[in-house]
Amino acid sequence: MAPVTAAPDPLADQMPGQIWPLTATRDGAGRLCLAGHALSDLAATHGTPLYLYDQTTLDGMAAAYQQALAAAYPAASEAAYAAKAWLSTAMARWAAARGLGLDVVSAGELAIALHGGFPAARIHFHGNNKTPAELTAALAAGVGRIVVDHAAELATVDALARAQGIRQPIWLRINPDVAVDTHGHTATGHAGSKFGLALADGTAEAAALHALRLEGIELCGLHCHIGSQFRATEPLTLAVQRLLDLAARLRDRAGWRLAELSPGGGWAVPYLEEQAAGLPAIGAYVTTVAQEVIAGCRQRDLPLPKLALEPGRSLAARAGVALYRVGAVKRSGAVTYLFIDGGLADNPRPALYGARYSALLANRLSAESPQRVHVAGPYCETGDVLIQDIELPPVQPGDLLAVPASGAYQLSMASNYNAALRPAVVWLTAGEAHLVQRRETLAELLAREGASGLSFGRQAA
Ligand code: LLP
Repeated sequence: MAPVTAAPDPLADQMPGQIWPLTATRDGAGRLCLAGHALSDLAATHGTPLYLYDQTTLDGMAAAYQQALAAAYPAASEAAYAAKAWLSTAMARWAAARGLGLDVVSAGELAIALHGGFPAARIHFHGNNKTPAELTAALAAGVGRIVVDHAAELATVDALARAQGIRQPIWLRINPDVAVDTHGHTATGHAGSKFGLALADGTAEAAALHALRLEGIELCGLHCHIGSQFRATEPLTLAVQRLLDLAARLRDRAGWRLAELSPGGGWAVPYLEEQAAGLPAIGAYVTTVAQEVIAGCRQRDLPLPKLALEPGRSLAARAGVALYRVGAVKRSGAVTYLFIDGGLADNPRPALYGARYSALLANRLSAESPQRVHVAGPYCETGDVLIQDIELPPVQPGDLLAVPASGAYQLSMASNYNAALRPAVVWLTAGEAHLVQRRETLAELLAREGASGLSFGRQAA
């Protein structure tokens, strides 16, 4: 595999390329800046590892979805942010203000969304094994759509809704059995996946017909999500056709009308500049999906449903930058390691999916010729290598490394491995840098401990 080249440097062509936030620049001193804030100043104030979110980039991504939907789809539409990519109350408030919907998958995500004032009616609750307690909380909050994953869940939602004296709008998650070109861990629409109701053997159709007979449930839509980080639309358009076939059969058999259709999220982002080549823009992807729905409905004589897309990564990834401080440079055999103060605990993606990242020296520009290094974190695992094989200028202890495309599935998958403290998050606008999540503290780690009541006898001498 070729080494990752750290270029393009935002200063080199004054363009942020495809992986840095839209506001990335270098100032006169060569310091990397986002929204006009020098990253070295932010590191001095908030410490490292530090996660930065650029609101201009988030706004641009949300607008790309909303404008493409409005232009390409003549009926109602909605872009709903998939909160699992990264959620905080700030993100929930931002999504609410931008008119996005919100997908949540747990009582925890629901609580954060509601705490951020996100309107419950615009929340879709997904998940393949929601507990009765989670469903109770969701119904009590007035969540707009429960996305039912399997037949047993239908009965639970129906019973809970009737107990609360309501009729809960739901979607059914359908498994359309399509193959998606992505990492095996993030493909979700193939036969045998744990997600959704199988189409091929009639399970989905039977569940839908059953749902139509339940008093506590209003079946208003069909949903699928076939995978994440895919770059081709063909499997998705095939899935759309299969969902519309099901909708037409349900119309014919039960007079049902498909009011809402969600073909999920999953559109890829480039993590390396060269991965941007050949990747259609968000607008092109949305237009392809919209046209497929329009043509498919026309063929089957179905009225156009409301079209809901659920982007997570493609909304959030590019807006985020992870900032680390270099602690040491070490040679081991033929390899040079740059040790930074984060890695596996705040970003497990390289270890989980073999994900590749790039980085830039953030606190200064260097004209020195680049060297091939591995960027590794402090965690006790050989797999804690954030970037395997990258060309960077010679770096000193104390320098700062900035890693782009860090806004999705990093903090939301962060762990306390080695009792690491989860990083702080700063939200950047042109005028302000807001600390929206402070760094976790040792007191918070210790707050969960409850060993005081245990007795182990006398302490050994
Ligand atoms: N809708 C549903 C039902 C989903 O399960 C997901 C992601 C999305 C929407 C948003 O997909 P996106 O647009 O973000 O690709 N941890 C993995 C990604 C897991 C995605 C899970 N579901 C990673 O770091 O690559």
